[in-house]
Amino acid sequence: MVNNDRTKDHMLSQVELIEVTRKFGNVTAVENANFSLPQGSVLTILGPSGCGKTTLLRMIAGFDTPTSGEIKISGQPVQAVPPYKRSIGMVFQNLALFPHLTAGENIAYPLKMRRFPIADIPGLVEHYLGVVRLAGMQDRRIHQLSGGQQQRIAIARALSFNPDLLLLDEPLSALDKKLREEMQLEFRRIQQEIGVTTINVTHDQREALVMSDEIIVMADGVIQQSADPISLYRKPSNKFVASFIGLTSLLQGKVVGVKDGLEIQVSNRRLLGHSSSSFSNGDLVEAAIRAEQVRIYAEQTAPKEMDNVLEGFVEEQIFEGDRMVYQVRCPAFASTPIFVFDHDPSHHLLHHKGDKVILSWNQRDLLVYPQSD
Ligand SMILES: Nc1ncnc2c1ncn2[C@@H]1O[C@H](COP(=O)(O)OP(=O)(O)OP(=O)(O)O)[C@@H](O)[C@H]1O
Ligand SMILES: [Mg+2]
Repeated sequence: MVNNDRTKDHMLSQVELIEVTRKFGNVTAVENANFSLPQGSVLTILGPSGCGKTTLLRMIAGFDTPTSGEIKISGQPVQAVPPYKRSIGMVFQNLALFPHLTAGENIAYPLKMRRFPIADIPGLVEHYLGVVRLAGMQDRRIHQLSGGQQQRIAIARALSFNPDLLLLDEPLSALDKKLREEMQLEFRRIQQEIGVTTINVTHDQREALVMSDEIIVMADGVIQQSADPISLYRKPSNKFVASFIGLTSLLQGKVVGVKDGLEIQVSNRRLLGHSSSSFSNGDLVEAAIRAEQVRIYAEQTAPKEMDNVLEGFVEEQIFEGDRMVYQVRCPAFASTPIFVFDHDPSHHLLHHKGDKVILSWNQRDLLVYPQSD
């Protein structure tokens, strides 16, 4: 019998990091990380290469130890618990499947290591092959499986012993785009079916948005923001998060008006923006505008009522099938191009390289941050 009843440890099965720091010599790979993960949820740690994602995951798995701070799993400090005694399933980037074993033997491996009753093993292998939709493939050798099928076997192997926690370290990064996107949805489906608490690590923002209940954005070892995907996308709390998620143009300027909305000057242009922080005149700021919030018009068709209107020239036109991406150079901001998405381009007027265009966006969509953030 497969025991998927996880309610017994409902309140216990969670991960908590308290002021966790990991230093390697003078490199601080993780600095004062704090978070608490409710049982059954999916957390993604998102950030650029070298920001400390793997280090964080390795400490949770027990392969590495914090320099300071504490990690609790199921409410218990785990400092003294070796990896094999933590109830954790892991899938790594390179999968680490055993090539000399069959698919079924790979899934059975952690069960044998954990001394599950021999009689229970075939049923469990069959069950988890079903979960990853590879029923009947237990006798295949690893090299007889496609990349996506190998991925599924790696997931089944990580889940077969019913771990309290599933850790994924960029297991999809080696797959091509289409398969990667398919597997993101597949991971989500399996996770929801099994209900296992999951921490996923990636530098792919789409993967984070698609797969997670909660996302933590890291940069240089420091957690920048922790939020659900929609809040994170809509309300990035600093300029790093704003520029890391979505296609965003960043403009440097200073505050010139705070009375009737936030007014900033960028080069010789005044723009209206929005911020959750308060500013004084003269403060140096950085303003972020998302490509999908910018409208693009030919000169004669531009409306007059928008908050921010700018002239520019199309510098690049990139066709992505479902949308056209324009890179527009505005003489007012010599150093920074503005990116614009135009969805459904086949029904719109196309703008060509060198064309003069008018850009506009709403005040609420220009997010203003302190430059020092
Ligand atoms: N064993 C180690 N010894 C020394 N420095 C290390 C060690 N492991 C990691 N680092 C450093 O710590 C920092 C964080 O590394 P980490 O592997 O956690 O990054 P990451 O976010 O997983 O990056 P990637 O996306 O490239 O996998 C890097 O500067 C790295 O060079
Ligand atoms: Mg890594």
